[in-house]
Amino acid sequence: MTAPLIGIHDLAVATAGHVLELDDLAAATGVDPGKFHIGLGQDQMSVPGPDEDIVTMGATAARRIIDRHGVDGIRTVFFATESGVDQSKSAGVWVHDLLGLPSTSRVIELKQACYSATAALQAAAGLVAREPGSKVLVIASDIARYELDSAAEPTQGAGAVAMLVTADPALLSIEPATGLHTAHVDDFWRPNDSVTAVVDGKLSIDAYLDGFVGAWDDYRAHGGVDAAEIDVFTHHQPFTRMAAKAHRRLAEHLGTELAEDRYLRSTLYNRRIGNSYTASLYFGLAALLDGDDDLTGKRVGMFSYGSGSVSEFFAGVVQPGYREHTRADETAELLAARTRVDVPAYRALHAAAHLGSRQDVAVPAQSPWPYHFAGVRGRARQYTADQA
Ligand code: COA
Repeated sequence: MTAPLIGIHDLAVATAGHVLELDDLAAATGVDPGKFHIGLGQDQMSVPGPDEDIVTMGATAARRIIDRHGVDGIRTVFFATESGVDQSKSAGVWVHDLLGLPSTSRVIELKQACYSATAALQAAAGLVAREPGSKVLVIASDIARYELDSAAEPTQGAGAVAMLVTADPALLSIEPATGLHTAHVDDFWRPNDSVTAVVDGKLSIDAYLDGFVGAWDDYRAHGGVDAAEIDVFTHHQPFTRMAAKAHRRLAEHLGTELAEDRYLRSTLYNRRIGNSYTASLYFGLAALLDGDDDLTGKRVGMFSYGSGSVSEFFAGVVQPGYREHTRADETAELLAARTRVDVPAYRALHAAAHLGSRQDVAVPAQSPWPYHFAGVRGRARQYTADQA
C-alpha cells in the first residue's frame, strides 16, 4: 500500500487594516524611493490598528478556511509567531475560542523567529501521517515592528497565513526530503522587555544566505532533487529583494544559471504587505498559486529562514485541480480594503503599540476584519468577534 500524499489542502491569508505607501515614507524621510522599490523590493507596508494583533489576523485568516471546510477533524492547532502577546498562553487558544474549534484538540504556539511556521507544517505532516483522517490547522501570524528612523523601518509589515494540512491535499503535497541548518548567530532577536526587534541587518543577510546554502546541501544529501527539477521557488522574504539575493546565491553555489522568472511571481504579495515574519514564505507560496501560470504538477522549492538561526529547504508538488481552491480574488479584495495612512498617522499607530497589562483599558473595534483586540481586563487580553 502506498502512503497517502500529505500537504496543504487550503491556504488563506489576512493582513492589517492600514497601509502605508513607501513613497510617502521616502518623501517624509528624504530617501530616494528607488531604494525602497528597487533596493529593498518593497512598495507598501501593512500597519495594524489598535484593535489588531497576531490573534485577530490569525483568526481572520483561519476563519476563511473554517467557512469552507468546517471544523470537523481538526485535532491540532499550531500557532507560529515571533510577536507573541503572552509569555505563557498560546495565541492559538484565543483563536480556538474565537473560531469555535473542537475542545478535543491540542493547541500550541511555536517560536523560532521567522522559521517556526515551517516547523509547524512539518510537524503537522507527521501528525497527519500517523492519523490520515485528521486535520491540522497551521497559523502563521506576525507583526514586524522596528524602531522608527532605523534602517529596518521600511521593512516592517504585518500578516497571517492559515493552512489546513491533510492527507490527499487539494493544493500542494509536501515531499518528505528536507534540508536543515542551524547555526547560532546574533543577527536578530527581540528581548522580553522590547516591543521592537533588535537587528544587525547586514549580518542577518549573510546569515540567511549561509543558512540557505547549508540547508540546500543537506536537502541534496537527504534525497532532495536537483535544482533543474524544481520548477519554481519561494523564499522567506523579509524584504522581497532578499529572494533575489537568495536565488543568485544558489545559482553561484551550483555554478549554474537560475532564471529570475522561477521566483519572481512569489514576491507580489510581500511587496505590498511588508515583512510578515513566519507568514512571509507562505505569502510567497500563495502568490505563486494565485498567479496566471498553470502550475499543475510543478515542483515548488521553499526556503524558510528564522534568525538566530534555523533554516530549512523543502519542496512540494502542486496538485491537479488546485486552481479551483485558490483565493486570488479574496486576497485582492483584502489588500484593497486596507485604509491608507500618512506618515504621521502611521507613526502614531506605531507608538500606540506600547500598551501594557497593568491597567484595564477598552479598545474600540475599528478594523474591517471580523475579530478585534478589545483591550485588557484584570490583566487578561480580551477579544471580540463581529456578529456573522
Ligand atoms: N535605487 C535603487 N537601489 C538603491 C538605492 C536607489 N536610490 N539606494 C540604495 N539602493 C540599494 C542599495 O544599493 C542596497 O542594495 P544591495 O542590497 O544590492 O547592496 C539596498 O538598496 C539596501 O540599501 P543599503 O543602504 O545597503 O541598506 P540599509 O542600510 O538601508 O539596510 C537592510 C537594509 C535590509 C539591512 C535593513 O532594511 C534591515 O536591517 N532590515 C531588517 C533585517 C532584515 O530584513 N534582514 C534580512 C534577513 S532575515
